[in-house]
Amino acid sequence: MELPFADAPLKLPEGVRLLRRHLDESQQRALLDDIVAIVRRAPLFTPRMPKTGRPFSVRMTNAGPLGWVSDREGGYRYEPTHPETGEPWPPMPPLLLDLWEELTGYPAPPEAALVNFYAPGAKMGLHVDNDEAALAAPVLSISLGCSARFRLGGLQRRAPTISFDLHAGDVLILEGPSRLRYHGIDRIHPGPGALPAEIGEGRINITLRRVTLPQARRS
Ligand code: SIN
Ligand code: FE2
Repeated sequence: MELPFADAPLKLPEGVRLLRRHLDESQQRALLDDIVAIVRRAPLFTPRMPKTGRPFSVRMTNAGPLGWVSDREGGYRYEPTHPETGEPWPPMPPLLLDLWEELTGYPAPPEAALVNFYAPGAKMGLHVDNDEAALAAPVLSISLGCSARFRLGGLQRRAPTISFDLHAGDVLILEGPSRLRYHGIDRIHPGPGALPAEIGEGRINITLRRVTLPQARRS
């Protein structure tokens, strides 16, 4: 029988930082309030795979000047507006800007906060985050709601992978030599009550990304 929860190995590869319960319960609640407000203005949408148009099982929205979207015709990309409402994405919550500044030391703010909602049964296949020009910037990911089995691979799709669980309040950073590692979510461990009723049962993951290269500093 598989154990319900799997701990991360004590030693993760260079460039992978896992900060267990970095957000305490009141910070998680504050962030979930922000997410509810974002979803009211920018409803969760179902992205579709490039070419095939197959729907993702994860539903998404974004905050910040740019948002990640995908559809059959245009593929993976960042857009300044919501694919269904045509409205600009809601502003990035200050809490997220502060977290980025505190943890990354990157000299420019994130431009996209991609909000992934996993209802029970949703998952995300192994992939690399490489739609950004600013690959020197980390990707910072926050887990809320119920736990999930995360899979971390190498720089090639066929490289060996390790799996461990992410729980509410955990922050995971992929940077430097691990910025382009394959990763995905095998499944979530559903449990009631972990997310506001307005969102539903499941898991929220927020990833903060810098998309464009910051302007070269004038001397
Ligand atoms: C992602 O890779 O965009 C999401 C990862 C996660 O849900 O933890
Ligand atoms: Fe990703």
